[in-house]
Amino acid sequence: MSNPRWLRRDGNPRLEYGADYNPEQWPRETWAEDVRAMREAGVTVVSLAIFSWAKIEKAEGQYDFGWLDEAIELLHANGISVDLATATASPPPWLTTKHPEILPVDVHGNTIWPGGRQQWRPTSPIFRDYALKLVREIATRYGNHPAVVAWHVSNELGCHNIYDFSDDAAAAFRVWLRSRYGTVDALNEAWGTAFWSQWYSDFDEILPPRQAATHPNPTQQLDFKRFSSDALKDYLRAEKAILREISPDVPVTTNFMVMGETKGMDYADWAAEVDFVSNDHYRLPGAQSLDELSFSANLTGNIAGGDPWFLMEHSTSAVNWQPINLAKKPGELARDSLTHVAHGADAVCFFQWRQSRAGAEKYHSGMYPHAGTDSTLFRDVVDLGARLRDLASLQGTPRTRARAAILFDWNSWWAVEQDSHPTSRLRYKQEALDWYTAFLNLGVRADVLPAGSSFDGYDVVVAPVLHMVPSALAARLTAFVDNGGHLITTYFSGIVDENDHVGLGGYPGALRDLLGLRIEEFGPLLDGDTADLDNGLTGTLWTDRIDITDAEVLASYKTGDQAGRPAITRRTVGSGSAAYVSTRLGPDGLTPVLGDLLSRAGVESELPSSLRGLVELAVRGDTRFIINRTEETVDITALGGADRTLTARGVAVLRA
Ligand code: GAL
Repeated sequence: MSNPRWLRRDGNPRLEYGADYNPEQWPRETWAEDVRAMREAGVTVVSLAIFSWAKIEKAEGQYDFGWLDEAIELLHANGISVDLATATASPPPWLTTKHPEILPVDVHGNTIWPGGRQQWRPTSPIFRDYALKLVREIATRYGNHPAVVAWHVSNELGCHNIYDFSDDAAAAFRVWLRSRYGTVDALNEAWGTAFWSQWYSDFDEILPPRQAATHPNPTQQLDFKRFSSDALKDYLRAEKAILREISPDVPVTTNFMVMGETKGMDYADWAAEVDFVSNDHYRLPGAQSLDELSFSANLTGNIAGGDPWFLMEHSTSAVNWQPINLAKKPGELARDSLTHVAHGADAVCFFQWRQSRAGAEKYHSGMYPHAGTDSTLFRDVVDLGARLRDLASLQGTPRTRARAAILFDWNSWWAVEQDSHPTSRLRYKQEALDWYTAFLNLGVRADVLPAGSSFDGYDVVVAPVLHMVPSALAARLTAFVDNGGHLITTYFSGIVDENDHVGLGGYPGALRDLLGLRIEEFGPLLDGDTADLDNGLTGTLWTDRIDITDAEVLASYKTGDQAGRPAITRRTVGSGSAAYVSTRLGPDGLTPVLGDLLSRAGVESELPSSLRGLVELAVRGDTRFIINRTEETVDITALGGADRTLTARGVAVLRA
């Protein structure tokens, strides 16, 4: 995306700070205190009305905007602007009672009942009618209000309803397939329906991949994933069209979820639909928790085309939806926020302003906790507001590109994790994250890049488990190497085309010549089995039976079925190269392998050697963010800034 229509360019740069604000959950007396505390914290923007449909339209066509008018006026009078939701995220009970046919249906044919949220079919014409009427009412009422600085379409589209197997979905899927394939013959070819007597004579015979007797057709599954992402994107467009028509000057966004294992929505593809990218991120437990935050923020920035973006939600402390929900440790609130800023966020917002007393999220932290403002958490919130004010001049400054990139591709993600593969243990995002951690361990910056992005300007491109490589992508990777670039790829990459058909003549069909090797059979490993390499590392999950055609062997297998065969290879192509890693080494094993490949490519860390691995470096223009990756104080004297030490979980911001 280029030229985001960013919030407020009034000559006073600022990083926005705020939260979802749900005043409808509280009596009026609370609102004045909310706004007072918002000002104390330095809040500049709140998202309103996200789950307010039932409070705004209490019965069909009967609108009560009084409370929302009052809330917006109060915020406006206090200099706080509003990212106004279209309120369509969760349909009210009167609507699902009148039209139960808008409720989604799961893969087994079960209805997803009301009682939670987001109980609507993305393709329901009835839902769309009601929702768009509401959007029109809200846009007409508030489209010119000076407090409204952005439109927030629905909320986390697809969070709970991305896959709907209803009859509405079936009808819309057929329309989508007709437009993709034109003829049913072309679909039969793409889906390989000669297999298992699946040949279709008419589009009307086609269904979503509902619960079947055994493995459903893989291309049908894949197309259903593509269709489901497109169906919600189409819904986003429908809301946006109304907002544009009525209030063309207010930019439109919807909060993405570039986080964890959320994979249903192809955000690289959705980004063109919004005026600025916004993202929600919640840290997951585990050793790579902070690396995953950085990875997601980094990818969000590149989904936004390198432009600054808006962190719409994260948490001040505990969430409520993990099996065990830990409070954040001292320093983590600021560190997490500033890591997003380091990767290009121009706004830091939370779910939610005031922690709820009732409802499913009452134990989810907020900016204003149950304990009140006399609390460590609120003091941390106020401190972070001050820190963001100090960084105001950063607004609009893009992240500084790295020399290396890790490719990330939704189609490969979808395809590689389908059933009936050599192993069911492979996790696409984990593979990419492991390479990212290896870069962090080496202190080398890397951009996480949607695979459709240009590789221009990068010296190194890592493509972990890039399973689906259509010919155009193969050509781009080959051209990258031919022009002196260094490609690193791994097992199970380059195996299938866009229809999930295997490239013949030996694996990996699409990349075989580029890599200078040929694989006759895959060698997945059983749980607990390992394969030792002659460089001292140990592989798990996967091995390949590699024959070299034109490549140097950097490491070989010492044990297991492939003993004596190549494990890591590299083919030199002019001043470029194409390397292949055939087993899972995990972040610790990848670190030395990547270090070797980077030094052959002439890419070095920008950090002093004493700091590599201990801190993350991220750069925006003349500002360097130094993020402590450890639980210890780190001596950063070598960086030459005013700060000599970086506390555990601390972030130093060094400005030239
Ligand atoms: C998001 C959602 C918020 C809130 C939050 C809790 O998925 O947009 O409304 O539920 O998670 O972490």
